[in-house]
Amino acid sequence: MRISIFGLGYVGCVSLGCLAKNGHQVIGVDVNTTKVEQINSGKATIIEKDIAEIIAEQHELNRISATTSFNDAILNSEISIVAVGTPSSKNGHLNLQYIYSVAEQIGVALMNKDSFHIIVIRSTIMPGTCDEFARIVEEISGKERNKDFAIVDNPEFLREGSAVNDYFNPPLTLVGSDNRDAAEKVSLLYKHLPAEIITTNLKVAEIMKYVNNTFHALKISFGNEIGNICTELNIDSHEVMNIFCKDKQLNISPYYFKPGFAYGGSCLPKDLKGLQTLAHDLYIDTPIINNVGKTNDLQIDRAVTLILNHWNKKLGFLGLSFKAGTDDLRNSPAVAVIERLIGKGCEISIYDKNINLSLLTGTNKEFIDEKIPHLSSFLVNSTQEIIDNCDVIIVNNKEKEFTDILKNVNSKIIIDMVRLDESLISKQNYTGINWAIDTSESTESKSWAIDMPKSIQ
Ligand SMILES: NC(=O)c1ccc[n+]([C@@H]2O[C@H](COP(=O)([O-])OP(=O)(O)OC[C@H]3O[C@@H](n4cnc5c(N)ncnc54)[C@H](O)[C@@H]3O)[C@@H](O)[C@H]2O)c1
Repeated sequence: MRISIFGLGYVGCVSLGCLAKNGHQVIGVDVNTTKVEQINSGKATIIEKDIAEIIAEQHELNRISATTSFNDAILNSEISIVAVGTPSSKNGHLNLQYIYSVAEQIGVALMNKDSFHIIVIRSTIMPGTCDEFARIVEEISGKERNKDFAIVDNPEFLREGSAVNDYFNPPLTLVGSDNRDAAEKVSLLYKHLPAEIITTNLKVAEIMKYVNNTFHALKISFGNEIGNICTELNIDSHEVMNIFCKDKQLNISPYYFKPGFAYGGSCLPKDLKGLQTLAHDLYIDTPIINNVGKTNDLQIDRAVTLILNHWNKKLGFLGLSFKAGTDDLRNSPAVAVIERLIGKGCEISIYDKNINLSLLTGTNKEFIDEKIPHLSSFLVNSTQEIIDNCDVIIVNNKEKEFTDILKNVNSKIIIDMVRLDESLISKQNYTGINWAIDTSESTESKSWAIDMPKSIQ
Protein backbone atom coordinates (compact mmCIF):
# COMPACT_ATOMS: atom_id res chain seq x y z
CA MET A 1 0.00 0.00 0.00
CA ARG A 2 1.04 3.65 -0.38
CA ILE A 3 1.26 5.18 3.06
CA SER A 4 2.14 8.66 4.34
CA ILE A 5 3.37 9.15 7.92
CA PHE A 6 3.04 12.48 9.70
CA GLY A 7 5.81 12.97 12.26
CA LEU A 8 9.26 11.41 11.91
CA GLY A 9 10.14 11.06 15.58
CA TYR A 10 10.44 7.76 17.49
CA VAL A 11 7.09 6.33 16.44
CA GLY A 12 7.06 7.78 12.93
CA CYS A 13 10.62 6.78 12.03
CA VAL A 14 10.14 3.21 13.30
CA SER A 15 6.79 2.86 11.48
CA LEU A 16 8.32 4.29 8.29
CA GLY A 17 11.16 1.76 8.27
CA CYS A 18 9.14 -1.25 9.43
CA LEU A 19 6.17 -0.70 7.10
CA ALA A 20 8.59 -0.36 4.19
CA LYS A 21 10.33 -3.55 5.33
CA ASN A 22 6.94 -5.25 5.09
CA GLY A 23 6.71 -4.16 1.43
CA HIS A 24 4.81 -0.87 1.57
CA GLN A 25 5.73 2.38 -0.19
CA VAL A 26 6.04 4.99 2.57
CA ILE A 27 6.37 8.80 2.50
CA GLY A 28 7.33 10.56 5.73
CA VAL A 29 6.17 14.12 6.45
CA ASP A 30 7.70 16.39 9.04
CA VAL A 31 7.85 20.12 9.70
CA ASN A 32 11.49 19.60 10.71
CA THR A 33 13.61 19.85 7.55
CA THR A 34 16.62 18.14 9.16
CA LYS A 35 14.55 14.97 9.75
CA VAL A 36 13.23 15.09 6.18
CA GLU A 37 16.79 15.40 4.83
CA GLN A 38 17.98 12.55 7.07
CA ILE A 39 15.36 10.16 5.66
CA ASN A 40 16.06 11.28 2.10
CA SER A 41 19.73 10.47 2.58
CA GLY A 42 18.99 7.04 4.05
CA LYS A 43 19.57 7.95 7.70
CA ALA A 44 17.31 7.32 10.70
CA THR A 45 16.05 10.35 12.66
CA ILE A 46 16.48 8.55 15.99
CA ILE A 47 18.99 6.30 17.76
CA GLU A 48 17.41 2.85 18.22
CA LYS A 49 18.71 -0.68 17.80
CA ASP A 50 18.37 -1.87 14.14
CA ILE A 51 16.61 1.27 12.83
CA ALA A 52 19.68 2.75 11.06
CA GLU A 53 20.12 -0.45 9.01
CA ILE A 54 16.40 -0.68 8.18
CA ILE A 55 16.19 2.94 7.01
CA ALA A 56 19.39 2.60 4.93
CA GLU A 57 18.17 -0.65 3.35
CA GLN A 58 14.65 0.64 2.56
CA HIS A 59 16.08 3.89 1.19
CA GLU A 60 18.31 1.82 -1.09
CA LEU A 61 15.23 -0.11 -2.26
CA ASN A 62 13.44 3.22 -2.98
CA ARG A 63 10.59 2.28 -0.66
CA ILE A 64 10.92 5.35 1.61
CA SER A 65 11.13 9.09 1.09
CA ALA A 66 10.28 12.20 3.09
CA THR A 67 8.89 15.65 2.43
CA THR A 68 7.70 18.81 4.18
CA SER A 69 4.79 18.97 1.74
CA PHE A 70 1.75 17.43 3.41
CA ASN A 71 -0.17 17.99 0.19
CA ASP A 72 2.18 15.84 -1.92
CA ALA A 73 2.22 13.14 0.74
CA ILE A 74 -1.57 12.87 0.95
CA LEU A 75 -2.16 13.01 -2.78
CA ASN A 76 0.33 10.16 -3.22
CA SER A 77 -1.01 7.83 -0.52
CA GLU A 78 -4.19 5.93 0.40
CA ILE A 79 -3.51 5.89 4.13
CA SER A 80 -2.05 8.63 6.35
CA ILE A 81 -0.61 7.60 9.70
CA VAL A 82 -0.41 10.40 12.27
CA ALA A 83 2.53 10.02 14.68
CA VAL A 84 3.15 13.60 15.81
CA GLY A 85 3.91 14.39 19.44
CA THR A 86 1.20 14.80 22.08
CA PRO A 87 3.14 16.30 25.00
CA SER A 88 1.68 17.38 28.38
CA SER A 89 0.66 21.02 28.71
CA LYS A 90 1.96 22.97 31.75
CA ASN A 91 -1.13 22.12 33.80
CA GLY A 92 -0.99 18.41 32.92
CA HIS A 93 -3.54 18.32 30.11
CA LEU A 94 -2.68 16.67 26.85
CA ASN A 95 -1.47 19.17 24.26
CA LEU A 96 -3.21 18.18 21.03
CA GLN A 97 -2.13 21.18 18.96
CA TYR A 98 0.16 19.14 16.66
CA ILE A 99 -2.57 16.55 16.10
CA TYR A 100 -5.13 19.18 15.17
CA SER A 101 -2.73 21.04 12.89
CA VAL A 102 -2.28 17.75 10.98
CA ALA A 103 -6.10 17.56 10.81
CA GLU A 104 -6.09 21.01 9.20
CA GLN A 105 -3.35 19.97 6.74
CA ILE A 106 -5.23 16.81 5.78
CA GLY A 107 -8.42 18.86 5.42
CA VAL A 108 -6.68 21.21 2.97
CA ALA A 109 -5.11 18.35 0.99
CA LEU A 110 -8.37 16.38 0.73
CA MET A 111 -10.02 19.33 -1.03
CA ASN A 112 -8.04 18.21 -4.09
CA LYS A 113 -8.39 14.46 -3.68
CA ASP A 114 -11.24 12.44 -5.14
CA SER A 115 -10.35 8.95 -3.92
CA PHE A 116 -11.19 7.60 -0.45
CA HIS A 117 -8.56 8.38 2.21
CA ILE A 118 -7.94 6.59 5.50
CA ILE A 119 -6.50 8.52 8.44
CA VAL A 120 -4.86 6.44 11.17
CA ILE A 121 -3.98 8.07 14.49
CA ARG A 122 -0.94 6.31 15.95
CA SER A 123 -0.17 9.02 18.54
CA THR A 124 -1.47 8.71 22.09
CA ILE A 125 -4.70 10.71 22.29
CA MET A 126 -7.60 11.23 24.70
CA PRO A 127 -11.06 9.73 24.04
CA GLY A 128 -12.99 11.99 21.67
CA THR A 129 -9.90 13.23 19.76
CA CYS A 130 -10.64 11.18 16.62
CA ASP A 131 -14.13 12.64 16.41
CA GLU A 132 -12.76 16.18 16.73
CA PHE A 133 -10.03 15.37 14.17
CA ALA A 134 -12.66 14.13 11.70
CA ARG A 135 -14.81 17.20 12.37
CA ILE A 136 -11.90 19.51 11.48
CA VAL A 137 -11.14 17.51 8.31
CA GLU A 138 -14.82 17.67 7.27
CA GLU A 139 -15.07 21.38 7.98
CA ILE A 140 -11.97 22.32 5.98
CA SER A 141 -12.21 19.85 3.11
CA GLY A 142 -15.96 19.90 2.63
CA LYS A 143 -15.71 16.10 2.41
CA GLU A 144 -17.87 13.65 4.37
CA ARG A 145 -16.64 11.25 7.04
CA ASN A 146 -17.17 7.61 6.05
CA LYS A 147 -18.01 8.60 2.49
CA ASP A 148 -14.82 10.38 1.39
CA PHE A 149 -12.53 9.52 4.29
CA ALA A 150 -12.48 7.42 7.46
CA ILE A 151 -10.67 7.70 10.76
CA VAL A 152 -9.02 4.87 12.68
CA ASP A 153 -7.25 4.86 16.05
CA ASN A 154 -4.30 2.47 16.12
CA PRO A 155 -2.24 3.17 19.26
CA GLU A 156 1.46 2.31 19.26
CA PHE A 157 2.79 0.08 22.06
CA LEU A 158 6.53 0.25 21.35
CA ARG A 159 9.10 1.12 24.04
CA GLU A 160 12.15 3.26 23.33
CA GLY A 161 15.30 1.12 23.48
CA SER A 162 13.56 -1.90 21.94
CA ALA A 163 11.31 -0.05 19.49
CA VAL A 164 11.98 -2.11 16.33
CA ASN A 165 11.66 -5.42 18.15
CA ASP A 166 8.47 -4.15 19.82
CA TYR A 167 7.08 -3.05 16.44
CA PHE A 168 7.52 -6.55 15.03
CA ASN A 169 6.41 -8.29 18.26
CA PRO A 170 3.64 -6.18 19.81
CA PRO A 171 1.55 -7.59 22.67
CA LEU A 172 -1.45 -7.00 20.41
CA THR A 173 -2.56 -4.79 17.53
CA LEU A 174 -5.49 -2.55 18.37
CA VAL A 175 -7.64 -1.06 15.63
CA GLY A 176 -10.50 1.23 16.66
CA SER A 177 -12.92 2.63 14.11
CA ASP A 178 -16.51 3.28 13.14
CA ASN A 179 -15.73 2.18 9.58
CA ARG A 180 -15.40 -1.53 8.90
CA ASP A 181 -13.59 -1.24 5.55
CA ALA A 182 -11.00 1.15 6.97
CA ALA A 183 -10.46 -1.08 10.03
CA GLU A 184 -9.99 -4.05 7.72
CA LYS A 185 -7.47 -2.25 5.53
CA VAL A 186 -5.48 -0.98 8.51
CA SER A 187 -5.49 -4.48 10.03
CA LEU A 188 -3.89 -5.75 6.82
CA LEU A 189 -0.87 -3.50 7.47
CA TYR A 190 -0.06 -5.72 10.44
CA LYS A 191 -0.83 -9.10 8.88
CA HIS A 192 2.86 -10.13 9.15
CA LEU A 193 3.00 -9.56 12.90
CA PRO A 194 2.60 -12.50 15.27
CA ALA A 195 0.08 -10.63 17.45
CA GLU A 196 -3.68 -10.84 17.79
CA ILE A 197 -5.50 -8.04 15.94
CA ILE A 198 -8.29 -6.64 18.08
CA THR A 199 -10.92 -4.35 16.61
CA THR A 200 -13.06 -2.11 18.75
CA ASN A 201 -14.78 1.27 18.70
CA LEU A 202 -12.82 4.53 18.65
CA LYS A 203 -13.21 5.55 22.29
CA VAL A 204 -12.12 2.18 23.67
CA ALA A 205 -9.02 2.30 21.44
CA GLU A 206 -8.30 5.88 22.45
CA ILE A 207 -8.32 5.21 26.19
CA MET A 208 -6.26 1.99 26.06
CA LYS A 209 -2.77 3.57 26.09
CA TYR A 210 -3.65 5.59 29.20
CA VAL A 211 -4.95 2.51 30.95
CA ASN A 212 -1.86 0.49 29.95
CA ASN A 213 0.72 3.11 30.85
CA THR A 214 -0.94 4.05 34.14
CA PHE A 215 -0.94 0.37 35.08
CA HIS A 216 2.71 0.03 34.10
CA ALA A 217 3.54 3.02 36.32
CA LEU A 218 1.44 1.47 39.10
CA LYS A 219 3.29 -1.86 38.76
CA ILE A 220 6.67 -0.16 39.00
CA SER A 221 5.71 1.93 42.01
CA PHE A 222 3.97 -0.98 43.76
CA GLY A 223 7.09 -3.11 43.21
CA ASN A 224 9.18 -0.29 44.65
CA GLU A 225 6.99 0.09 47.75
CA ILE A 226 7.26 -3.66 48.37
CA GLY A 227 11.02 -3.42 47.71
CA ASN A 228 11.39 -0.62 50.27
CA ILE A 229 9.53 -2.58 52.97
CA CYS A 230 11.52 -5.77 52.20
CA THR A 231 14.86 -3.93 52.31
CA GLU A 232 14.09 -2.62 55.79
CA LEU A 233 13.40 -6.20 56.91
CA ASN A 234 16.51 -7.60 55.17
CA ILE A 235 14.36 -9.61 52.75
CA ASP A 236 15.38 -10.01 49.09
CA SER A 237 12.67 -8.05 47.27
CA HIS A 238 13.56 -9.61 43.91
CA GLU A 239 12.97 -13.09 45.22
CA VAL A 240 9.65 -11.89 46.66
CA MET A 241 8.49 -10.34 43.38
CA ASN A 242 9.74 -13.31 41.33
CA ILE A 243 7.58 -15.62 43.42
CA PHE A 244 4.71 -13.12 43.24
CA CYS A 245 4.89 -13.25 39.41
CA LYS A 246 4.83 -17.05 39.38
CA ASP A 247 1.19 -16.98 40.53
CA LYS A 248 -0.55 -16.78 37.17
CA GLN A 249 -3.98 -17.59 38.59
CA LEU A 250 -4.59 -14.70 40.94
CA ASN A 251 -1.60 -12.32 40.63
CA ILE A 252 -0.58 -12.02 36.97
CA SER A 253 -3.95 -12.85 35.41
CA PRO A 254 -7.31 -11.30 34.44
CA TYR A 255 -8.63 -12.25 37.89
CA TYR A 256 -9.56 -9.20 40.03
CA PHE A 257 -9.47 -6.95 36.95
CA LYS A 258 -13.23 -6.58 36.61
CA PRO A 259 -14.63 -3.13 37.44
CA GLY A 260 -17.47 -3.50 39.94
CA PHE A 261 -18.13 -3.49 43.67
CA ALA A 262 -15.65 -2.80 46.46
CA TYR A 263 -13.64 -5.72 47.82
CA GLY A 264 -14.46 -7.22 51.20
CA GLY A 265 -14.22 -10.44 53.17
CA SER A 266 -11.99 -11.48 56.00
CA CYS A 267 -8.59 -11.43 54.23
CA LEU A 268 -8.05 -8.53 51.82
CA PRO A 269 -8.96 -5.67 54.21
CA LYS A 270 -7.14 -7.30 57.15
CA ASP A 271 -3.94 -8.14 55.29
CA LEU A 272 -3.79 -4.83 53.47
CA LYS A 273 -4.06 -3.08 56.85
CA GLY A 274 -1.38 -5.42 58.21
CA LEU A 275 1.17 -4.50 55.52
CA GLN A 276 0.27 -0.81 55.77
CA THR A 277 0.88 -0.86 59.54
CA LEU A 278 4.13 -2.79 59.12
CA ALA A 279 5.40 -0.14 56.67
CA HIS A 280 4.31 2.61 59.04
CA ASP A 281 6.17 0.97 61.94
CA LEU A 282 9.27 0.75 59.74
CA TYR A 283 8.95 4.49 58.88
CA ILE A 284 8.49 3.61 55.19
CA ASP A 285 6.11 5.85 53.29
CA THR A 286 3.87 3.70 51.05
CA PRO A 287 1.24 6.01 49.49
CA ILE A 288 0.00 3.46 46.97
CA ILE A 289 -0.58 0.75 49.56
CA ASN A 290 -2.05 3.31 51.99
CA ASN A 291 -4.60 4.56 49.47
CA VAL A 292 -5.92 1.22 48.24
CA GLY A 293 -8.45 1.17 51.09
CA LYS A 294 -9.48 4.73 50.29
CA THR A 295 -10.36 3.79 46.72
CA ASN A 296 -12.37 0.90 48.12
CA ASP A 297 -14.28 3.20 50.49
CA LEU A 298 -15.03 5.52 47.58
CA GLN A 299 -16.56 2.60 45.70
CA ILE A 300 -18.91 2.02 48.64
CA ASP A 301 -19.80 5.76 48.57
CA ARG A 302 -20.49 5.42 44.85
CA ALA A 303 -22.85 2.49 45.44
CA VAL A 304 -24.72 4.40 48.16
CA THR A 305 -25.10 7.47 45.93
CA LEU A 306 -26.37 5.34 43.03
CA ILE A 307 -28.98 3.70 45.26
CA LEU A 308 -29.98 6.96 46.99
CA ASN A 309 -31.04 8.33 43.60
CA HIS A 310 -34.07 6.13 44.32
CA TRP A 311 -34.25 6.80 48.07
CA ASN A 312 -38.05 6.96 48.20
CA LYS A 313 -38.44 3.47 46.72
CA LYS A 314 -38.42 0.04 48.41
CA LEU A 315 -34.95 -1.45 48.07
CA GLY A 316 -34.34 -5.18 47.63
CA PHE A 317 -30.82 -6.63 47.92
CA LEU A 318 -29.85 -9.88 46.23
CA GLY A 319 -26.83 -11.18 48.13
CA LEU A 320 -25.32 -9.89 51.37
CA SER A 321 -22.05 -11.81 51.74
CA PHE A 322 -18.92 -10.44 50.04
CA LYS A 323 -19.10 -13.02 47.27
CA ALA A 324 -21.34 -15.82 46.00
CA GLY A 325 -21.25 -19.22 47.70
CA THR A 326 -20.21 -18.09 51.18
CA ASP A 327 -21.90 -16.88 54.36
CA ASP A 328 -18.90 -14.69 55.28
CA LEU A 329 -20.30 -11.25 56.02
CA ARG A 330 -17.08 -9.78 57.39
CA ASN A 331 -16.26 -6.51 55.61
CA SER A 332 -18.84 -7.28 52.94
CA PRO A 333 -19.32 -4.01 51.00
CA ALA A 334 -23.06 -4.78 50.82
CA VAL A 335 -23.20 -4.68 54.62
CA ALA A 336 -21.49 -1.27 54.63
CA VAL A 337 -23.91 0.04 51.99
CA ILE A 338 -27.00 -1.31 53.77
CA GLU A 339 -25.83 0.00 57.17
CA ARG A 340 -25.67 3.50 55.69
CA LEU A 341 -29.02 3.22 53.93
CA ILE A 342 -30.72 2.00 57.12
CA GLY A 343 -29.25 5.06 58.86
CA LYS A 344 -30.96 7.21 56.24
CA GLY A 345 -34.32 5.52 56.86
CA CYS A 346 -34.56 3.52 53.62
CA GLU A 347 -36.98 0.59 53.42
CA ILE A 348 -34.89 -2.54 52.86
CA SER A 349 -35.31 -6.26 52.15
CA ILE A 350 -32.42 -8.70 51.75
CA TYR A 351 -32.22 -12.18 50.24
CA ASP A 352 -29.11 -14.34 50.58
CA LYS A 353 -29.59 -18.12 50.49
CA ASN A 354 -26.26 -18.66 52.26
CA ILE A 355 -27.12 -16.61 55.33
CA ASN A 356 -28.73 -18.52 58.19
CA LEU A 357 -28.53 -16.28 61.22
CA SER A 358 -28.73 -19.15 63.72
CA LEU A 359 -25.63 -20.72 62.11
CA LEU A 360 -23.44 -17.60 62.13
CA THR A 361 -20.67 -17.84 64.74
CA GLY A 362 -17.45 -16.20 65.90
CA THR A 363 -16.13 -13.00 64.31
CA ASN A 364 -18.63 -13.34 61.47
CA LYS A 365 -21.55 -13.09 63.93
CA GLU A 366 -19.86 -10.33 65.96
CA PHE A 367 -19.31 -8.29 62.80
CA ILE A 368 -22.91 -8.44 61.60
CA ASP A 369 -24.36 -7.93 65.12
CA GLU A 370 -22.38 -4.71 65.35
CA LYS A 371 -23.17 -3.42 61.84
CA ILE A 372 -26.80 -4.50 61.32
CA PRO A 373 -28.11 -5.66 64.73
CA HIS A 374 -31.66 -6.27 63.46
CA LEU A 375 -30.65 -8.12 60.32
CA SER A 376 -33.39 -10.75 60.84
CA SER A 377 -36.07 -8.11 60.30
CA PHE A 378 -34.70 -7.36 56.81
CA LEU A 379 -34.13 -10.92 55.58
CA VAL A 380 -36.67 -12.58 53.28
CA ASN A 381 -36.83 -16.22 52.18
CA SER A 382 -36.90 -15.99 48.39
CA THR A 383 -35.88 -13.89 45.43
CA GLN A 384 -39.55 -13.79 44.48
CA GLU A 385 -40.36 -11.80 47.63
CA ILE A 386 -37.72 -9.25 46.61
CA ILE A 387 -39.11 -8.99 43.10
CA ASP A 388 -42.76 -8.77 44.24
CA ASN A 389 -42.24 -6.26 47.04
CA CYS A 390 -39.37 -3.98 45.98
CA ASP A 391 -39.06 -1.22 43.37
CA VAL A 392 -35.28 -1.26 43.10
CA ILE A 393 -33.31 -4.52 43.02
CA ILE A 394 -29.64 -4.31 43.91
CA VAL A 395 -27.37 -7.21 42.90
CA ASN A 396 -24.46 -7.65 45.29
CA ASN A 397 -22.90 -10.95 44.31
CA LYS A 398 -22.78 -13.35 41.39
CA GLU A 399 -25.13 -16.06 42.62
CA LYS A 400 -26.04 -17.98 39.41
CA GLU A 401 -29.82 -18.08 40.05
CA PHE A 402 -30.05 -14.25 39.99
CA THR A 403 -29.48 -14.02 36.23
CA ASP A 404 -32.42 -16.15 35.14
CA ILE A 405 -34.73 -14.41 37.55
CA LEU A 406 -33.72 -10.89 36.55
CA LYS A 407 -33.91 -11.57 32.80
CA ASN A 408 -37.70 -11.40 33.04
CA VAL A 409 -37.90 -8.44 35.40
CA ASN A 410 -38.80 -5.35 33.37
CA SER A 411 -40.90 -3.17 35.64
CA LYS A 412 -38.34 -2.77 38.44
CA ILE A 413 -35.06 -0.85 38.48
CA ILE A 414 -32.02 -3.15 38.56
CA ILE A 415 -28.73 -1.83 39.98
CA ASP A 416 -25.89 -4.25 39.35
CA MET A 417 -22.70 -4.01 41.45
CA VAL A 418 -21.00 -7.10 40.00
CA ARG A 419 -21.81 -7.26 36.25
CA LEU A 420 -23.89 -10.35 36.89
CA ASP A 421 -24.43 -11.35 33.26
CA GLU A 422 -23.87 -9.71 29.85
CA SER A 423 -27.44 -10.53 28.80
CA LEU A 424 -28.84 -8.08 31.37
CA ILE A 425 -26.85 -5.04 30.28
CA SER A 426 -29.04 -4.02 27.36
CA LYS A 427 -32.20 -3.97 29.52
CA GLN A 428 -33.78 -0.52 29.72
CA ASN A 429 -34.26 -0.81 33.49
CA TYR A 430 -30.61 -1.75 34.18
CA THR A 431 -27.69 0.27 35.61
CA GLY A 432 -24.18 -0.99 36.34
CA ILE A 433 -22.06 0.56 39.08
CA ASN A 434 -19.18 1.49 36.77
CA TRP A 435 -19.67 0.46 33.20
CA ALA A 436 -21.54 2.23 30.45
CA ILE A 437 -22.55 0.36 27.35
CA ASP A 438 -23.68 2.33 24.34
CA THR A 439 -26.54 0.27 22.96
CA SER A 440 -27.58 2.91 20.43
CA GLU A 441 -27.47 2.07 16.76
CA SER A 442 -24.76 4.65 15.99
CA THR A 443 -21.80 3.27 14.08
CA GLU A 444 -19.55 4.83 16.75
CA SER A 445 -20.38 2.11 19.26
CA LYS A 446 -19.93 -0.83 16.92
CA SER A 447 -17.04 -3.23 17.05
CA TRP A 448 -16.62 -6.30 14.89
CA ALA A 449 -14.39 -9.24 14.25
CA ILE A 450 -12.24 -8.70 11.18
CA ASP A 451 -12.08 -11.74 8.91
CA MET A 452 -8.35 -12.12 8.44
CA PRO A 453 -6.82 -14.86 6.28
CA LYS A 454 -6.28 -18.02 8.38
CA SER A 455 -2.49 -17.70 8.24
CA ILE A 456 -2.52 -14.47 10.20
CA GLN A 457 -5.20 -15.18 12.80
N1 LIG B 1 8.24 7.48 22.03
C1 LIG B 1 7.61 6.40 22.42
O1 LIG B 1 8.18 5.48 23.00
C2 LIG B 1 6.14 6.24 22.15
C3 LIG B 1 5.56 4.97 22.24
C4 LIG B 1 4.20 4.82 21.96
C5 LIG B 1 3.44 5.93 21.63
N2 LIG B 1 4.03 7.17 21.58
C6 LIG B 1 3.18 8.30 21.20
O2 LIG B 1 3.39 8.57 19.80
C7 LIG B 1 3.34 9.97 19.55
C8 LIG B 1 4.64 10.42 18.92
O3 LIG B 1 5.68 10.21 19.86
P1 LIG B 1 7.21 10.38 19.44
O4 LIG B 1 8.00 10.00 20.64
O5 LIG B 1 7.43 9.70 18.16
O6 LIG B 1 7.27 11.99 19.22
P2 LIG B 1 8.51 12.84 18.71
O7 LIG B 1 8.44 14.13 19.43
O8 LIG B 1 9.76 12.03 18.74
O9 LIG B 1 8.15 13.09 17.16
C9 LIG B 1 7.08 13.87 16.75
C10 LIG B 1 7.42 14.44 15.38
O10 LIG B 1 6.27 15.08 14.84
C11 LIG B 1 6.71 16.20 14.09
N3 LIG B 1 5.58 17.09 13.82
C12 LIG B 1 4.96 17.95 14.64
N4 LIG B 1 3.96 18.58 13.99
C13 LIG B 1 3.93 18.08 12.73
C14 LIG B 1 3.12 18.31 11.61
N5 LIG B 1 2.11 19.19 11.63
N6 LIG B 1 3.36 17.64 10.46
C15 LIG B 1 4.37 16.74 10.42
N7 LIG B 1 5.19 16.48 11.46
C16 LIG B 1 4.97 17.15 12.61
C17 LIG B 1 7.82 16.77 14.95
O11 LIG B 1 8.67 17.64 14.21
C18 LIG B 1 8.52 15.49 15.40
O12 LIG B 1 9.55 15.13 14.50
C19 LIG B 1 3.02 10.61 20.89
O13 LIG B 1 1.63 10.76 21.00
C20 LIG B 1 3.52 9.61 21.89
O14 LIG B 1 2.85 9.72 23.14
C21 LIG B 1 5.36 7.34 21.80
